Amino acid sequence: MIESLEDNLWFLVRCELVFLLVIGLMVTLLFWVKSKVAVSKECVVDINDGFKKIVASYSSKLFEILSGNGIYLPSACGGGGTCGMCKVKLKDPGEPGLIDRSILTKHDLDEGLRLACQLSLKQDIKINLPSSVMDVKKRKFRVISNKQLTPLIYEIKLVPVDGDMFEFEVGDYIQVELETKEDTYIRGYSMANSSLEKDYILLNIRLAVPPRPRLPVGVVSSFLTSRAKGDEVMITGPYGEFHISENEVPMVYVAGGVGLSSIRAHVVELLEGRGSKRKISLWYGVRTKKDGYYIEEMASFMDKYPNFSFNLVLSNESVEPGMVNKQGYNLYTGFVHEALYLNLLKDSLDASEWEYYFCGPSLMNRGMIGLLADLGVKRSNIYFDDFG
Ligand SMILES: Cc1cc2nc3c(=O)[nH]c(=O)nc-3n(C[C@H](O)[C@H](O)[C@H](O)COP(=O)(O)OP(=O)(O)OC[C@H]3O[C@@H](n4cnc5c(N)ncnc54)[C@H](O)[C@@H]3O)c2cc1C
Ligand code: FES
Repeated sequence: MIESLEDNLWFLVRCELVFLLVIGLMVTLLFWVKSKVAVSKECVVDINDGFKKIVASYSSKLFEILSGNGIYLPSACGGGGTCGMCKVKLKDPGEPGLIDRSILTKHDLDEGLRLACQLSLKQDIKINLPSSVMDVKKRKFRVISNKQLTPLIYEIKLVPVDGDMFEFEVGDYIQVELETKEDTYIRGYSMANSSLEKDYILLNIRLAVPPRPRLPVGVVSSFLTSRAKGDEVMITGPYGEFHISENEVPMVYVAGGVGLSSIRAHVVELLEGRGSKRKISLWYGVRTKKDGYYIEEMASFMDKYPNFSFNLVLSNESVEPGMVNKQGYNLYTGFVHEALYLNLLKDSLDASEWEYYFCGPSLMNRGMIGLLADLGVKRSNIYFDDFG
């Protein structure tokens, strides 16, 4: 009786072991099959209705697929999902992800735009890319000069190593790609050159200092500002929408700090390149006079071109109200957008009809957007670049 009870128990234990073994084998087999299917599955990215088709592996990121195939989307965060610049239009977008929702506007989402760096391929997709992006090239440039303009801003000139300079529209920017042992960093930099200076790239780089001591300085700006003549830099470009309109209405330019770069390109292009007779008023905001650059050049245009005026606004240095520099430009104390309002826009009846171009830190750009909204300026008359 006892023996048969023991036999039964052993039988049950053996059955259970066999059962667990079978389940274990089945689960392993399932994972193996799944991994094989996922790895070997391929999806097709169709660009511009069959203009180009790329076969890519399942789960790979669209941003990387495109750059691996010579299509370089704009990006300031190198695929980190924070800059919002890598948006692409999908034919059949599906539900946006969390990061898409937090970065893109409702209008973008409704239009079918999604962030390429957040999109993992799970099926064939169709996307539309503008020709400006399709034409972007990646190539090596060589530094031909690096000059310090202010305590933090450097002027760097670069020429293509292969001698083949790309065409650009005045106001465009390029991206610098820096590969280190740890990571690849991509950052945007405005071109400060007009079409009269078409054989090279002119950059104004501000060394990004940390907000507190003992933190590291900016990765790419410190790399660039420390380049010497002959050093090589990997660049993609050109990109941009900060371009001169074809209208004839007066233009107000507002620059903050290193934001003068693309605005200098516009001003030189309009005055020296095109001989434009449009009324152009430039307002340049810096902390103190020694933090500003190209001041002499901008001031010199006032003598040559009566349709151009230049105003320097210092946020951390006092000047007497109504002070005019001996070169003829006005000096003000305060924030640049406030000085612009108090000394020009407040008393100009048709200011809401003018065009506004601005470029600088986010705080200044937000100030400008608020000011122009209060004045009732149409969105189509506002052009700006945000350096983030
Ligand atoms: C369209 C466009 C055009 C631009 N044009 C220009 C231009 O013409 N000139 C220009 O100078 N810039 C320009 N910028 C800005 C530029 O792209 C970079 O954002 C800038 O140079 C900083 O990059 P970085 O790699 O040097 O700094 P990052 O390495 O990205 O660091 C950013 C900041 O964070 C600080 N930091 C580092 N670690 C920490 C930490 N642990 N905690 C807190 N802070 C920390 C760094 O010191 C630095 O100040 C442009 C940007 C865009 C989008
Ligand atoms: S590359 Fe910056 S959000 Fe995608």
